[in-house]
Amino acid sequence: MINISHIYKSFKEKSVLEDISMSIKDGEFVVVLGSSGAGKSTLLRCMNGLYIPEKGSVEISGIELNRKSMREIRKRVGFIFQGSCVVGNLSVLTNVLMGSLSKKNSMSLRFTKSEKEKALELLDMVGLSEYAYIRTDKLSGGQRQRVGIARALLQEPEILLADEPVASLDPVTAKEILDLIEKINREMKTTIICNLHQVEYARAYAQRIIGIRNGKIDFDENTESVTTRQIQHIYEN
Ligand SMILES: Nc1ncnc2c1ncn2[C@@H]1O[C@H](COP(=O)(O)OP(=O)(O)OP(=O)(O)O)[C@@H](O)[C@H]1O
Ligand SMILES: [Mg+2]
Repeated sequence: MINISHIYKSFKEKSVLEDISMSIKDGEFVVVLGSSGAGKSTLLRCMNGLYIPEKGSVEISGIELNRKSMREIRKRVGFIFQGSCVVGNLSVLTNVLMGSLSKKNSMSLRFTKSEKEKALELLDMVGLSEYAYIRTDKLSGGQRQRVGIARALLQEPEILLADEPVASLDPVTAKEILDLIEKINREMKTTIICNLHQVEYARAYAQRIIGIRNGKIDFDENTESVTTRQIQHIYEN
């Protein structure tokens, strides 16, 4: 359960999020839409403590997000970055294992046998088992995105935040990645909050769509009831 209550976030003097409130139930698949600069990434970053809002509160599974609770929250919340953010000169397996660093006290790249077994299972799940010992920079964009997903899943998050996980992927690969995220939602019951630019993917995958315009919520509805007019409105200047 995520409870966001009246948050405000600005950079320098510039207000980016204004009075955002929402409540997301366990197991939901929510897509956030909005034009470039609307505040989608900022909103997602406020959900795992990468940014702390100036006003209002963010509560994850009953824990209020602040500097003290950040580590606890990060164990529960996985993050998939646009372009996946993998380390090219490390193996695919090591990149996945780095998902466990948020739990460790050191940044050492030494991992236990059970962590390795789990990482290999996840690589199998995302369809990359043959690539475990290959350097990550040898992989395609779609394959790297899968590595990023496996890494986020290593800590068994309750919530998965995905910031444009299919940006710069071809339509077939994009669909494969979204199918994978949908499978994680369905089978692992992971709550998904996903920023997208493609309205058609939002309609195909989301149970609920939140439209953001100029840092404010424009609409927040079940996918079936979102109208073309509402979609147009968030992309108007
Ligand atoms: N760290 C930062 N420092 C200063 N300004 C920032 C920072 N992060 C975001 N902003 C500003 O906040 C606004 C919203 O940015 P954000 O990245 O949240 O938009 P977005 O909806 O994700 O856009 P896009 O679709 O292009 O990814 C932009 O004007 C951006 O310049
Ligand atoms: Mg963004």
